[in-house]
Amino acid sequence: MPSAEEASEMSEAQIAVHWKEEEKIPPSPKFVAQANLADPKSLERFSLENFPDFFEEYAELLDWSQRWQTTLDTSNAPFWKWFVGGKLNASYNCVDRHLAKYADKAAFIFVPELEDQPQVRMTYQDLYERVNEFASLLRDFAGVKAGDRVTFHMPMVPELPVSMLACARLGVVHSQVFGGFSGQACGVRAADSGSRVLVTIDGYYRNGNLIDHKANADIAVKAAKELGQDVDKVLVWRRHPGRNSSKTPMLEGRDYFVDEVLKGYVGKRVEPVQMDAEAPLFLMYTSGTTGKPKGCQHRTGGYLAYVAWTSKYILDIHPEDVYWCMADIGWITGHSYIVYGPLALAATGVLYEGVPTYPDPGRPWRIAEELGVSIFHTSPTAIRQMRKTGPAEPTKYGYHFKSMTTVGEPIEPDVWRWYYDVVGKKEAVITDTWWMTETGGFLCSTVPALMPMKPGSTGPGAPGIFPIIYDDSGNEIPRGSDRAGNICIRAPWPGVFQTIWGDSERYVRQYYSKYNKNKDSKDWRDWPFMCGDGAVLAADGYFRILGRLDDVIKVAGHRLGTKELENAALTVPEVAEAAAVPIADEMKGRMPDIYVSLKPGIEPSDEVKKKVTRALEEEIGKIARPKNVYIVPDMPKTRSGKIMRRVLASISNHVDYGDITTLANPEVVEQVRLLVQGTGKVTPKAGHEEVLREVKEE
Ligand code: PRX
Repeated sequence: MPSAEEASEMSEAQIAVHWKEEEKIPPSPKFVAQANLADPKSLERFSLENFPDFFEEYAELLDWSQRWQTTLDTSNAPFWKWFVGGKLNASYNCVDRHLAKYADKAAFIFVPELEDQPQVRMTYQDLYERVNEFASLLRDFAGVKAGDRVTFHMPMVPELPVSMLACARLGVVHSQVFGGFSGQACGVRAADSGSRVLVTIDGYYRNGNLIDHKANADIAVKAAKELGQDVDKVLVWRRHPGRNSSKTPMLEGRDYFVDEVLKGYVGKRVEPVQMDAEAPLFLMYTSGTTGKPKGCQHRTGGYLAYVAWTSKYILDIHPEDVYWCMADIGWITGHSYIVYGPLALAATGVLYEGVPTYPDPGRPWRIAEELGVSIFHTSPTAIRQMRKTGPAEPTKYGYHFKSMTTVGEPIEPDVWRWYYDVVGKKEAVITDTWWMTETGGFLCSTVPALMPMKPGSTGPGAPGIFPIIYDDSGNEIPRGSDRAGNICIRAPWPGVFQTIWGDSERYVRQYYSKYNKNKDSKDWRDWPFMCGDGAVLAADGYFRILGRLDDVIKVAGHRLGTKELENAALTVPEVAEAAAVPIADEMKGRMPDIYVSLKPGIEPSDEVKKKVTRALEEEIGKIARPKNVYIVPDMPKTRSGKIMRRVLASISNHVDYGDITTLANPEVVEQVRLLVQGTGKVTPKAGHEEVLREVKEE
């Protein structure tokens, strides 16, 4: 396992960047006139001199059963405590408190993938009832209580936010595993979190097919058991209550259909359990340098305050907006900006079950038109896909967005312009919000009414966030220098995660140790938070994000660790060694290329390649499907035996692999190159050098 130092290692030369500055575009006066944050003077209150007191206004967006005494407690740095002494309940804040005014307003409009299935308009009153009933089932039937963990493996259906809020009502910590992850991946996460209850669904629609999802639950329970964790109750929602969408049998005494059990809980109410501000609200697993996923633990008070504030002032959500975030709730974007932030503001959210291009590329714009969507939120991969499949589709529909967001990966200025011109019809502002699972909410973005947009750049730090770029020695890289480095955040903020579940040492090591000069310090100034991305700061104070620096490949905006990919490939018995490297992909940004060498005596074959692909799908999920699998005679290695991923990534991306004379086996490099690129003349691919910034030798 590489040390923290190695994990963040990179030389500035490797990541020097050159690109042309884009012209800035101001927000429309119409947007400014209605924006929640439009007074230029308002930003002054977020100066570092006012830290951390200005974060009180974030917490004041919520209802507390007991007000906090201390805004920020740094006594156990870097385990920050926010709003200490305060008590609140997240489900109360997202549901109950809106009933007086908004009981009949839709909290969610669920749009099934199949257009002939009816949409479901779930009002705040409906949400209240369903959350209470399921909370009461969880408590009295599943026997969980505050502090216990429950794993979900759910797709984009309204039962997912209902389940999350039911847990929050009880103080139970939910851990939602992205529905597209495999049963195996779900089981590993359930075991790590110590969940004895799994909440899932029998099936869901994707690309017009009804997927058997229950089958994954059986695999998950088995995988968890192999890791020493018994899951003794599997609660299975039914996509169509009363009838089965899965052929996988139910195991008596373990598996229960939720709609059947709920019959005993109709009309039941559960008092929201008032939780400490610091009580964990949920875990969200993500990938990093090692093969083991990290359970990022988010707190109740600070997290909810932070996502509510940023939803209000960056996404500019008003209660009368119809807001559609196309992300999946199984990722942090969905937790923060589909469920917790928008619901805390009593917004109406659209929940769409399926893929944006089903049954045709006009689908998203039909939904937007029909439901009167005013705010739209998606990822560069989705934008690229929509542009490719239906470049003129948006013009055929009469929707009007006032604001739009892009998140999850860098967006090419050209793609940005299509989003602005065609999707946004030159009316909508765009926020390019940069952040990550660990940070709970946005770190950088423009404040849409106050700052012009710059295609391809995120913006300055969000109000209250103080980003800084350090070189490897901890010197600040000044703005306008065209040099890239490690982007860090100087001061804590309420949305930052509390720790890695069960591994506090790794939390300190991976996020703080590189730039901490005194590990005994209780002063937050000594503990910059290292985000794990490379970035450049332009002269105008806007950041441009270059990508991960810790062996993470962002595939269609999803975060996959090279180690996880390699471990999956190594489960194939024929495989001796495996290396995963990113390759540029027009649609998904990056995809993994997998290089394997085989055990002695085993001949390369298509069958082995297929097994590798299957292993990645089974261990991780279909999102991990490689672009190519190459069987190589040997891996290029250093004399100390490390696999040179950079050389492999150079070959995959058709860029010069540089000096290889110090390798233990330089002759292998040309063999691998011929295998991948063939004997023809190879033209270097424009833009592909950038990929190499993200690759580090083991
Ligand atoms: O590399 C950055 C990229 O996504 C990473 C975080 O991934 P994840 O934890 O899955 O969270 C994604 C949703 C917040 C970051 O380290 N990233 C995220 N947003 C942007 C981005 N890269 C460029 N521009 C963005 N707006």
